[in-house]
Amino acid sequence: MSKTQITITQPDDWHLHLRDGEALTSIAPFTAKQFARAIVMPNLNPPVTTVVQAVEYLDRILAAVQGTDFEPLMTLYLTDNTRPDEIIAARKSCFIKGVKLYPSGATTNSDAGVTDIRLCDKTLEKMQEVGLPLLIHGEATAPDIDVFDREKVFIETTLQPLMQRFPELKVVFEHITTKEAADFVTESTANIAATITPQHLLFNRNAMFQGGLRPHHYCLPVLKRDTHQQALLAVIRSGNAKFFLGTDSAPHAKSKKESACGCAGIFSAHAAIEIYASIFEQQDALDNLEAFASFNGPDFYGLPRNSRTITLKKQEWQIPESYPLGSETLVPFLAGQTINWKLA
Ligand code: DOR
Ligand code: ZN
Repeated sequence: MSKTQITITQPDDWHLHLRDGEALTSIAPFTAKQFARAIVMPNLNPPVTTVVQAVEYLDRILAAVQGTDFEPLMTLYLTDNTRPDEIIAARKSCFIKGVKLYPSGATTNSDAGVTDIRLCDKTLEKMQEVGLPLLIHGEATAPDIDVFDREKVFIETTLQPLMQRFPELKVVFEHITTKEAADFVTESTANIAATITPQHLLFNRNAMFQGGLRPHHYCLPVLKRDTHQQALLAVIRSGNAKFFLGTDSAPHAKSKKESACGCAGIFSAHAAIEIYASIFEQQDALDNLEAFASFNGPDFYGLPRNSRTITLKKQEWQIPESYPLGSETLVPFLAGQTINWKLA
């Protein structure tokens, strides 16, 4: 008989964009309602490159989630000029849990990102030494590379050589989208893990072109073909502990998405755990949800699992068409659609 209610250890979101200012105030409560902790991406404008900037950002996030127990886990934005000293300071800070690699030009606010990863070798060596994870946006950015091949090319040209230079570096391959990435992580040593978003489990690239151009299904790395979606679904059915929940929830104003040059990013924080539950149920893998959402992430990061629980009920509800985003509006993932699990 199919389940009508599940209770799991409270989950964490291991990849999240919270933005800043009034957008932060609008969206942070969605995450705080579901998740105990989240790894907060540093791609603000200007980016969060120092421990001092991270603590200031942490304070603004805490103000936005006042009255909750939500714990932001902060990250630093790696640049060509990040010094090993900053890594030591980050390690000592206790609230910085990773350093984010954006290849320059790969995505939103990545202009200050890394132009050549070898320029960071001293810093990466220090990260390996102190056990601070590198969180990777894994896309090669040379303009001649086909957009659908960017993850695969990144593995071959950047990630494999990087792991040869730093075999003990802890790495989270973020928001994987391809069979190549799933295989790479599965076959790697235990210090390499990956996050998977709801959109890459639920859709393939057809979703971006269904009856017209669908800007709200556009994110980076872009949705791939069906065979890749199937490989990601096979991963969650397998229950492999190297893979865990990371929404990559990334809000942009409706006007910036529905535009001649629309921004990349899908906002899923409003219903993240409910959407993952629907996907796992559909895959007949509900029993794997708790490890994916609540165990594998903290185990990899060396953090305690949460002690509270959440309960999800089998109950249909309709996702709103929009939410406020400061003075603008936001179209959430699966806007207007009905989903069948609801946080109690
Ligand atoms: O789609 C995306 N949006 N991918 C990213 O890597 C960044 C994010 C954003 O910040 O909007
Ligand atoms: Zn992201």
